[in-house]
Amino acid sequence: MTSPLLEIDGLSVSFSVPGGTVNAVRDVNLELAKGEILGLVGETGSGKTTVGKAVVRLLEPTAGRILIDGVDITHLSRRAMRPYRRQIQMVFQDPYSSLNPRMSVGQLIGHPLAIHGIAGRSERRKLVEEVVDKVGLSRSVLERYPGEMSGGQRQRVGLARALVLSPALLVADEPVSALDVSVQAGILNLLVDLQQELGFSCLFITHDLGVAEHLCDRVAVMYLGEIVEIGRRDTVLVDGSHPYTKSLLEAVPVPDPVLQRSRERSTLPGDPPDPLSPPIGCALSPRCPLADSRCLEEHPALMVMRSEDSSSNTSLGLGEHMVRCHRLQEAGLLVSK
Ligand SMILES: Nc1ncnc2c1ncn2[C@@H]1O[C@H](COP(=O)(O)OP(=O)(O)OP(=O)(O)O)[C@@H](O)[C@H]1O
Ligand SMILES: [Mg+2]
Repeated sequence: MTSPLLEIDGLSVSFSVPGGTVNAVRDVNLELAKGEILGLVGETGSGKTTVGKAVVRLLEPTAGRILIDGVDITHLSRRAMRPYRRQIQMVFQDPYSSLNPRMSVGQLIGHPLAIHGIAGRSERRKLVEEVVDKVGLSRSVLERYPGEMSGGQRQRVGLARALVLSPALLVADEPVSALDVSVQAGILNLLVDLQQELGFSCLFITHDLGVAEHLCDRVAVMYLGEIVEIGRRDTVLVDGSHPYTKSLLEAVPVPDPVLQRSRERSTLPGDPPDPLSPPIGCALSPRCPLADSRCLEEHPALMVMRSEDSSSNTSLGLGEHMVRCHRLQEAGLLVSK
């Protein structure tokens, strides 16, 4: 049995804020196979970005481990981390602020190669030109500056800069949500094509279920720092079982970009709970139409959906459909892992 490329094992991340502690990510477990695209979805504040930043080690976990190819990288020193830094790259939401405006595009894309001491000057130039071709930009952009480019072009530069190192894992945090709707599809299709050509794995963070459906093999749904449902794309995004997933699926997509924010809203009554005083039992219980007294008092575990056809699971156990809900468990639909 080969180990997954990425394992997130019991990850928790907390922040001290005025008034208390925010447990932004709570005991998250995820595995990502080689060449797989896993979508991380959920409303604003559910902890998606925090998971992504912990994976690329921009944030220290409060508990848990991050493993790459079976190696625990959670506490590696800067020096020991170097080969893994190269393997794990991140693309951010905002192509406006994530690119240094004083560097030319050629310098920006070549910079990671220089930092990692890869290849000589002329070889680096060749690698930069190759990746610029791959992301569908003309080589003439190499002499230009980010400020002279459109949002879509800048995000292509962001992708080129991440991919020039031939990473094994790309963490993409809402890479198209800051872009004009008219250019979003082009970037998403490019990402799918590049993934197929280059074979990297991708942790794709989005609040947009339509985007997740377009490109993900599996999807994990987060609510208040926890995974509440995970499984194959269609299992979750067509036939989602958790009441929160269902509420997201019921939210009608609004094609109008002006109204687009409403797409991340669920149809549940009320607002997401205050992260400084989360519910004691199920995180969703104050808003859930199915909640009873047990849901308010007892925290549910993530359990395996019984009806799942086990032959669809891979040897890694990836693709298992798991849901966190007392009521589904009481209905006999969930069993312990
Ligand atoms: N640096 C920080 N300091 C304090 N609290 C933080 C910090 N970063 C995130 N949080 C809190 O942690 C929780 C999770 O935030 P996170 O940014 O991971 O959510 P998200 O799912 O990415 O949301 P969005 O869809 O808005 O990007 C939120 O309650 C947020 O306010
Ligand atoms: Mg975020």
